[in-house]
Parts: sequence; C-alpha cells; structure tokens
Amino acid sequence: MKKILLSILFLIAVLVPACAKQFVNITPMPKQMEVGEGQYVLPKKFTVGAARLADSLKVEAQRFVDVIGETTGCKGKLSKSKKADILMTVDESLGYEAYKLSVTEKGISISASSARGFFYAFQTIKKIMPANVMAELNAEEAQKILPWYKVEAQPVVPCVEINDEPRFWYRGFMLDCGRHFFSVDDIKHILDGMAIYKMNYFHWHLTEDQGWRFEVKKYPKLTEIGSVASDCRMTDMEKGHYWLGKPYGPYFYTHEDCKEIIEYARNLHIEVIPEIDMPGHIMSALAAYPEFSCNPEGEHKVQTYQGGVWSDVLNVGDPKAVQFARDVLTEVMDVFPGQYVHIGGDECPTSAWEKNAQCQEHLNNLIKAGAIKDLGQDNKHRFRPLQSYFIKQMEQHISARGKKMILWNESVTAPGADLNIIKSTGATIFSWNPCQHGAEVAAKLGLNAVITEWGPGCYYINRKQHDGEGEPVAAGTGRKSDQLPAVYAYKPVPDKVMQDPEKSKYYIGVQATFWTEHVSDIKYADYLAFPRLLAVAEAAWSPEEKKDFENFRTRFTADTVLFDLTGRLYGKHFIAK
Ligand code: ACM
Repeated sequence: MKKILLSILFLIAVLVPACAKQFVNITPMPKQMEVGEGQYVLPKKFTVGAARLADSLKVEAQRFVDVIGETTGCKGKLSKSKKADILMTVDESLGYEAYKLSVTEKGISISASSARGFFYAFQTIKKIMPANVMAELNAEEAQKILPWYKVEAQPVVPCVEINDEPRFWYRGFMLDCGRHFFSVDDIKHILDGMAIYKMNYFHWHLTEDQGWRFEVKKYPKLTEIGSVASDCRMTDMEKGHYWLGKPYGPYFYTHEDCKEIIEYARNLHIEVIPEIDMPGHIMSALAAYPEFSCNPEGEHKVQTYQGGVWSDVLNVGDPKAVQFARDVLTEVMDVFPGQYVHIGGDECPTSAWEKNAQCQEHLNNLIKAGAIKDLGQDNKHRFRPLQSYFIKQMEQHISARGKKMILWNESVTAPGADLNIIKSTGATIFSWNPCQHGAEVAAKLGLNAVITEWGPGCYYINRKQHDGEGEPVAAGTGRKSDQLPAVYAYKPVPDKVMQDPEKSKYYIGVQATFWTEHVSDIKYADYLAFPRLLAVAEAAWSPEEKKDFENFRTRFTADTVLFDLTGRLYGKHFIAK
C-alpha cells in the first residue's frame, strides 16, 4: 500500500510541474491567490488546531474534522500542537470575515481573526478537495449517484497561497415562501448552497397576498386562515402551469421551525432576516382579520393567483391595525435573534386609503401637526406620506428592541414618499426597481443600500434563464439580459459611484432575489438559481477587477459535479464545452 502511495506521489510530483498551472476551483474568486505546484495529500490520521484556541474556533475545526471523517478515509482530531497538520493561527490584524490559507506539500496553515474567518478558510479547503467532500458524501454514496466518480481514500489539496476577504459585508439570497411554501429541509438545502459560495444573509420572505407563513401566537387566525389558499396555481418544470384544484395549505412555519432554521443557518455563518411585508402585499392577513383592512365588510381572501399587486392593504389610519402590525413584529423579534427586520414597503397602492374615512382623517391630522408633507388636494400621490409615517411607527418599535429595519426601494422612490421621514428611520434600502436610482436616492439620504437588480443584468434569479426552446415557464423573457453572462457582467456599484467614496460607502452589498410566482418546488428553484446564484456570489465577494467570465465558466462547469452529487438541478446553457 505504502509503495502504491509513493508511486502516486512520485507521478504527481513529476507530472504536475510539467503541466500548466493546476486548476484550483474556488468560487467566489479570492481577493488574492497564487497557485503553486504540487499538492498536499491529507494524511490518514491528521491533526487540526493550535496551542490556544477559543471554543468558538474549536467548533469550526471540529466540524471540519467531522466532515472529512465522514467523507474520506482520513480521521482527524483537534490538537494543541504547533505542528498540527492543519495549523490554525489567530491573526487579529485580519478583518472579521478575512482569512489566509497556505497549502504546501508539507501541510496547511490558516489564519483568521474570528470563527467566521476560519469557517471561510475551511469552506475553501473543502472546496478545493474532491467534490464529494463539500457534498458531504463518502465514496460509496458518491459513486451511487455518479458511477464514474473516482474517490481517493486520501483527498489531495492543491498547493496555493490565498489572502482573502469579501468585497461586501452583505451577501444575500432571498426566497419567497409566501407565494409557494418551501419545507424546512428545502430551506436547509438553500442555506447549504449559500454557504458553499460564502453568502451570509438569508432574507426570508414570509408573508404575501398568497399566504401567511409565520406563526403568530397572538393572532392564530393568521395561520389558520391566512396560510390556506382555496386553490393555487402551481408550476411544473415539464407540464408548466396547472391549478391544484384543492386548497393549498395550511402551510406555515412554527416558532420551532424558525428556530431550527436560524440555528442551522447560524452554524453556516448566515444570519436569517425575516420579512413581514406591510402595509401592502398583506391580503392573507386581511383574509384572517378583515377588521384591519380599509373595508371590513368587503370580501377578503387569500389570493390563489400567484402574480399581481392588489389594493387591499392594511388600514394605516386605524390605530388597532397599526398595533396589530407592531404585535406581529414583536413576535418576529422574539423568535429571530438577528439584527435586521425587513418590513417590505413595496408595491402598496393608496386607493383604499383614499376612500377610507379613518385614513382621510389621519392624513389631515398628520398634515395639521406638521408630521408629514402636504402634497396638496390635487396631488394624486397625496396619501403616499401615510405609508412613510407608518414605516416610521414600525421603525420606532423595531429600534426600541435595538434592531434595524430594512425596506424595499419604493419607500424612497414611490412618488410622494416623505423622504425626510424615511431618512430619519436609518433604514437599509433593498433596491430592485429602478434599482440604481433607488440606491442613489438612498445614498443621498445617508441610508445604506443593497443592490438586487430587477432589470437587465438581473439579480432576480427566478426569471427565465434562457429563451431557447423547451425552457420551462418562468417570469421574464430569458433573453440576453436575464442570462448568466449578463448577471455576471452587471456592476452593482457603477464606476461613477465607485470613484466617489462618499457615495460608494452606502452600497453595502448585493442580493440574489427569488420570487415564486412561477416556481412551486425546490428542484425548479435550484434549476433557475444555479448557476446565476454563483454569479451574484462572486459579485458579492470578489474584487471587480478579478472578475473574468471565461474563468468563472470553467469553475462553475467544474461545480456541476458538486451540483449533481447534491441533487441540484441547474441551467446548462453556458457550461464550457
Ligand atoms: C418586489 O419585487 N416587489 C420587491
């Protein structure tokens, strides 16, 4: 056995230097990377550690050891030796998410200043090992899925020097679980995908006109009634749209489900941001509690059709409806420990407020008190400042708990929005449409912006990814501007903003956003999201000047092995031949 191993090592030593630089498959591309010659063969028994490690760092090392143990023939253990095979060094000079990684033929050393940094270093090591390691499968399991897949008992790691840290500290993915419901396991599968590509915020869109998915103990009808649609337009990748023909639901997440997901995400260094969309996109709540609508006597139902914007919105002129919104957010904040709460604020028509006596009176009183802008009797956006005021009320409730609020860009771009009020909230603006304009307005107000482009070069990765024949139905056209190269080429921070640090400092990150109007299962979600999610992840992490589509294409083509092993569907349109 030893002889065979020595011969393999000899062959590697002779052949590798003769070839071009070896392929080191890391997405997102690190900030600095020098590919060396040769490889490190992980010993059958190996050690990971350092002389003194905080418990939180030991946790990261132990997780790595566990995965290697489950997926390869190598058994690791934590060590206090300065001579550990994988040596961990705490380097306080490195940024919170940064790490350094050095792989030589003799061993591996990593340094970071935090558990997060070590986590990313271990993710990188797993990523450049054979794909079954990241897939968390052993040889037998991997070969059952891909019979051609060869697994060495001892994984090899290419020699490389990496000095890495992200471009943006916000690197997000949003999943709409309102229009269609995704199970706890589906969400874990998404979180796994995010973590491979070093994304760190999961924006969980929990409520929609089509379904209320968050259990609120104070208002049980929200899930008894609001999480059930009388029918539902489903989408099948082969058959296209069809009607379910029976009730869809009850589908919702209990507090325990949420906590399970939060904990799972936490282990992957992902923060979960709950979104409760208000005061629009809230018909599922009004179906349960019509008294909080502008027309309690009228018909209110959970929508069955998956698209659209409806005028049935929360009665922001009714103090009881406003208190209802606060109460919901209280439970959200009780369950979600993260620093952010997203309250939507998108696509909210004002027509119901215009007809409602309470809202009319509320508007007049606020104008009289000088609390909102008076746009004038003839202005068709006259009622919009009511939304700005409502947002301020929610922000006061959120910041009283020491948390921060997030809004969609309509809060600053809808005609008539009271920008002074929104500025005073200190909210982070998720800008989608018009994306760059929204971010520009936010930055001018001194508010942080996250770029999630809806238009060309789109980060709305639920849109059709190609316009070729046989492509399953989805939002958008699938023409060039929705396709992978356009997503990859999109510059989240335009050059002219980049040149002005006073502006660019407000561009805190990017997000891939996934709506589920036309997607009702996780397989189809994977198919549309992959590989465009990787393009957004690279925009989030890698320096702009490092981006190179052909290089990216080679890397994601290699990653299709990982996708296949983990049962992910993906678009094959741009795979390297
Ligand atoms: C949105 O797409 N309505 C934020």
